[in-house]
Amino acid sequence: MSRTILVNEAIRFGVPEGDIILDAALSQGVVLPHQCRGASCGMCKARVTQGTVDNGWSLGLAISDQEIAEGFCLMCQARPLSAEVHLRTVQPIPGGEGSAVQSFEARVLCNTPLTPRVRRLVLQASEPLRFEAQAGAYVELALPGLSPHRRYSLATVPSSTGLIELLVARHPGGAASGHIHDLLQPGDSVGVTGPYGTCRLPEGEGTVLGLAGGTGLAPVLSIMEDALAHGDISPMTLLFSVRDDAELMLMDRLAGLARAHPNFRYALLVTEARSRFCMKQQYAPSWLRENHGSLAGARAVIGGSPGFVAACSDTCIALGMESTAISADSFTPVAQT
Ligand code: FES
Repeated sequence: MSRTILVNEAIRFGVPEGDIILDAALSQGVVLPHQCRGASCGMCKARVTQGTVDNGWSLGLAISDQEIAEGFCLMCQARPLSAEVHLRTVQPIPGGEGSAVQSFEARVLCNTPLTPRVRRLVLQASEPLRFEAQAGAYVELALPGLSPHRRYSLATVPSSTGLIELLVARHPGGAASGHIHDLLQPGDSVGVTGPYGTCRLPEGEGTVLGLAGGTGLAPVLSIMEDALAHGDISPMTLLFSVRDDAELMLMDRLAGLARAHPNFRYALLVTEARSRFCMKQQYAPSWLRENHGSLAGARAVIGGSPGFVAACSDTCIALGMESTAISADSFTPVAQT
């Protein structure tokens, strides 16, 4: 039996029994605020104003017990229990109420190694892109025989030329990343759906910190690059954290930005080995505390694993940053068949 969801008294859609609210919405082309789909960013939080839901799983990163007691849920985890559920989202709906996404075929232009673990995948859309993707968005790739579709953040804002650039890390045992790393060749076709996601540069005037762990560099760098290209003169620092020197990538792009924009600088952190590029092994929270007595008035864009995002967000808030001045893109490897 299908359940009915009404979001912000404007968007109505059905959810098959047992399905997750956000999954059902996205599969019908209904975009709701979300980012990680893994209970770690909090972007999909909504208050249940009518009906009941099963709250599902949460680590406590994105929603507190108190919020659950007050009637909030994460749409990326919740399943409706009553015939009709009304929700009020905390974040605005991207692109207006119910904006649609586009599905299209794209051809692989290049698939090259950036590090031993990460490949740069550039796709050419086979039709004009109808959407205007903002920096920080992600797309889903449909790879032959693999389900569910895999999500990758855009490493650059797609231009009118329809080029889509992604950074793909190999996950141990990951069927999709293994397919991309080992099998996908220039000329092959893949299905693309998007754009999704609401990771954006928080509004304001304050200093901007970009905190990127591994392939979390893709959304963080593209957001900062886009802001600089649009004339943002806020002081900006991008901190790029990796485990060892071999994982450093896109160094020419970082250096080029620093050359072109006096308000942009970057720092490298290597956490698990001696490095030619940074003086001491250090994790991002410790770097933040060492370099910033206070982050009051500052803004942050954070990209990386859920643990990296949570540790950086907690530290920024402890140093005085408003939680509303933080935007995060956290990726969680998904189970694949
Ligand atoms: S917590 Fe639901 S999309 Fe991130």
